[in-house]
Amino acid sequence: NEIRVFSPATVANVNCGFDVLGFALDGLGDEMVIRKVAEKGIKITKITGAELPYEAKENVVGVAGLAMVEALNLDFGFEIEIHKKIRLGSGVGSSAASAAGIVYGINQFLETPLTNLELTAFGMKGEAVASGNEHADNVAPCLYGGFTLITGYEPLKIVSLPVPEALYVTVIHPHITIKTKEAREILPADVSLKNAIKQTGNLAGLIAGLYESDYDLIASSTQDVLVEPYRKNLIPDFDFYKQTALENGGLAFGISGSGPSMFTLSKGLQNAGSVEFALKKSLKEKNMLSDSYISPV
Ligand code: HSE
Repeated sequence: NEIRVFSPATVANVNCGFDVLGFALDGLGDEMVIRKVAEKGIKITKITGAELPYEAKENVVGVAGLAMVEALNLDFGFEIEIHKKIRLGSGVGSSAASAAGIVYGINQFLETPLTNLELTAFGMKGEAVASGNEHADNVAPCLYGGFTLITGYEPLKIVSLPVPEALYVTVIHPHITIKTKEAREILPADVSLKNAIKQTGNLAGLIAGLYESDYDLIASSTQDVLVEPYRKNLIPDFDFYKQTALENGGLAFGISGSGPSMFTLSKGLQNAGSVEFALKKSLKEKNMLSDSYISPV
């Protein structure tokens, strides 16, 4: 009657797919212990690794879990221990890992389990508590694993994308925090036709590159003309880090989700390592380094 869930960190947007693209990281993630109990509802009994509310209605885990137990009208409930390993506000899907972890966990106790698509919809309810907006580009890859594309929100539609064998990601976390809600508020509501055309081409190019294992196409397409110009101002020296990553073997560089973490895609572990080495050095010199990770995509 008790399970342990590992819920991976994720990189959302991947530059050209704002709110629609994301992928999961290997190795970095939250852990949760979920116990089925007779008492209905969701009770959070322990939280380690972060200061978060125990009140279910104020906690991402609680909100996503309650959305699910109430919609399914379950006549039992759950006690939850949350062990946060992903730093809050770091830009690698901390809130999504909480939301996806609980709905995935509850699903393990159901006689008729839900699909990943249905779970994503419940997970999005929790994500909205943290970011003020229901988006699935962290929750979906967290649940599905790998690289996911949201082809529609109404109704929700998700496809898993193939990933070239040698594609690696380096994630670097500078020593600042950014709230997703605030990073969304600074974005303009409208975009120009010219930029929409560029971004459409980039998104299509990245997806074609993933299917074809075409690393040059991935490199030239993983660009963001809609969001990065605004959000990069929240990360001191962003352009310098970008230049450093691209000069040291990276294919593409950008803001992970709403930041402040930044990701670099590379071909091969060795390039991913060179990028990490160079970025860590630059961040250390500025006294800005918090964490860094390398993972296959
Ligand atoms: N797509 C979201 C955003 C991801 O960039 O605001 C952050 O959780």
